[in-house]
Amino acid sequence: MTGNDHDILQVMHTMRAMRRLKPDPVPDQLIAKILDAGVCAPSGQNLQRWSFLVVDDVDGKKFFGERYAYWLRERFAASLRNVDDSTSEGRQIKAALHLGDHMHEVPILLFCCGTRDWPFAVPAEQRVGRAPPSYGSIYPCVQNILLACRALGLGASLTTMHQMFEDDMHSFFGIPESHGVVSVIPIGFPLGKFGPVTREPAANKTHFNRWGQHKPGLASPVA
Ligand SMILES: Cc1cc2nc3c(=O)[nH]c(=O)nc-3n(C[C@H](O)[C@H](O)[C@H](O)COP(=O)(O)O)c2cc1C
Repeated sequence: MTGNDHDILQVMHTMRAMRRLKPDPVPDQLIAKILDAGVCAPSGQNLQRWSFLVVDDVDGKKFFGERYAYWLRERFAASLRNVDDSTSEGRQIKAALHLGDHMHEVPILLFCCGTRDWPFAVPAEQRVGRAPPSYGSIYPCVQNILLACRALGLGASLTTMHQMFEDDMHSFFGIPESHGVVSVIPIGFPLGKFGPVTREPAANKTHFNRWGQHKPGLASPVA
C-alpha cells in the first residue's frame, strides 16, 4: 500500500477490459491478493454474499471455453458480420472473439458467485422459482477484483456470457443451487499494454438538483 490517493484514480482510468492474455501461470499469491481485495467490497447489511470458484484445470477451462465461444458467436451473430477493425466497436468485437477462442488457455477463470435473494421490489406472493443472485452485493466485489488485477499488472475482463449455459456449469463444477454465478473473470498477464479507458464525460451524464439542470464547474454537458 503506497498511501497515495492518486494511485487508485490512475488504476481506474486505465482499467480497460484486457481480453488478450498470455497463457503463463499466475502465482497463487497474486490470486490471493486479488480475492482479498474483492472481499473488501461493501455488501447489503455486510452479509458478504460472495463465493468464488477459481478454475485453472484443463478440463474445467475446456468445458467453460467451448460453451463460452459457442454462445458468444450464437448471441452476437448479427454484429459479427463485417466487423470493421478501424472502429473501436469493431476492435472490441475482435478482442471479445479472441477471448472466446482462447478462453481454454487463460490461466485463471474466476467465477464470482452470489447467494440468491429476491429484490425488495418483488412482492412475496410473486416469488416463484429461483431468486436471482444478489447482483448488487456482488458487483462491488467484482469491480474491486478488476481494479486489483490492474494494480498488480494482470489483465482481466468482466464477462457474463455464462448466463447462456449456467445450469450446465452448476452440474459440471458442483456449484450449489443456493448460489448464482454473477460474473466470470478471465485473468492472466496481458499480451498488450494497459491504456486509458474511453468514456463519455461524467458531465454528460450528470444533473443538478432537478433532472435536466446543470451546474457549470460541477459537471456541465460537454458540447
Ligand atoms: C454487466 C457487464 C457484462 C459484460 N459482459 C461481457 C462479456 O460477456 N464478454 C466480454 O468480453 N465483455 C463483457 N463485458 C465488458 C464490457 O464489454 C466492457 O467493460 C466495456 O466494453 C468497456 O470496455 P473497456 O473498459 O475496455 O473500455 C461486460 C461488462 C459488464 C459491465
